[in-house]
Amino acid sequence: MIIRQYEPADRQSIEEIQFNTYFLGKSMSKFVSNRKPFSAELARYFEESESIFVAEDKGRIVGYLIGCLDDSKHNKRLSYANFVLSNFTKSLFFSKQDRAYWASRFAFLFNILIGKSGELKMKTPANAGHLHINLLPSSRGKGAGSKLLQAFFRYAKKKGIKVVHADSFETRLNPNKSFWIKNGFKPYSRIRTLSWKKQLPKEEIYYVCYVKAL
Ligand SMILES: CC(C)(COP(=O)(O)OP(=O)(O)OC[C@H]1O[C@@H](n2cnc3c(N)ncnc32)[C@H](O)[C@@H]1OP(=O)(O)O)[C@@H](O)C(=O)NCCC(=O)NCCS
Repeated sequence: MIIRQYEPADRQSIEEIQFNTYFLGKSMSKFVSNRKPFSAELARYFEESESIFVAEDKGRIVGYLIGCLDDSKHNKRLSYANFVLSNFTKSLFFSKQDRAYWASRFAFLFNILIGKSGELKMKTPANAGHLHINLLPSSRGKGAGSKLLQAFFRYAKKKGIKVVHADSFETRLNPNKSFWIKNGFKPYSRIRTLSWKKQLPKEEIYYVCYVKAL
């Protein structure tokens, strides 16, 4: 397994892994066939591609860490609302199944706005970097995730970054809390989310902001 910085030729593999892990570590293919909105959601991170690291196994990209050194560059709430609303509107032209998914995202957004889903109460640290990390199922539990974190920490520290955070779903379906704790993160904020209510009506899911000082 090689951990290295992103190269432009990696982009398609990253987009595929994002789609195949987007649903609590599992594929979105059960719910949607149109992958374009998901690739589009990633696009802004490629503007800071030096903050992206990949795990490569026998010539194949099996995981990524997408970093950002300055969280304040993105208004995450606004861009998420924009992402959902624009795809909900466009979904008139999507398949019936895809339309149902985007309608469920619209309902989620509404639940955020009326406070039923706790996202507006989620706190994230100021002046911090942040990261998203995902590995293909067959490459998990072998240390690649921790190595990707170490590579990003070394890089971010050199760039003068003092604090990083990662926002992650907490659910028994994809238990990853120990991964964050083992790698020195501490829970900073935790809210109950209805993000996957339509897909998993009975599941209790929390959204947790984990923070680490570098
Ligand atoms: C979470 C994730 C990035 C961890 O990377 P990893 O390479 O599997 O983790 P490592 O091998 O470096 O560390 C293993 C530790 O992570 C924890 N862990 C979390 N998810 C795990 C998984 N699916 N398989 C194995 N270990 C997992 C274990 O507690 C393990 O600790 P242990 O070895 O003491 O039991 C990876 O499993 C993954 O992509 N999971 C699905 C998507 C996800 O949850 N992404 C993060 C949310 S943004």
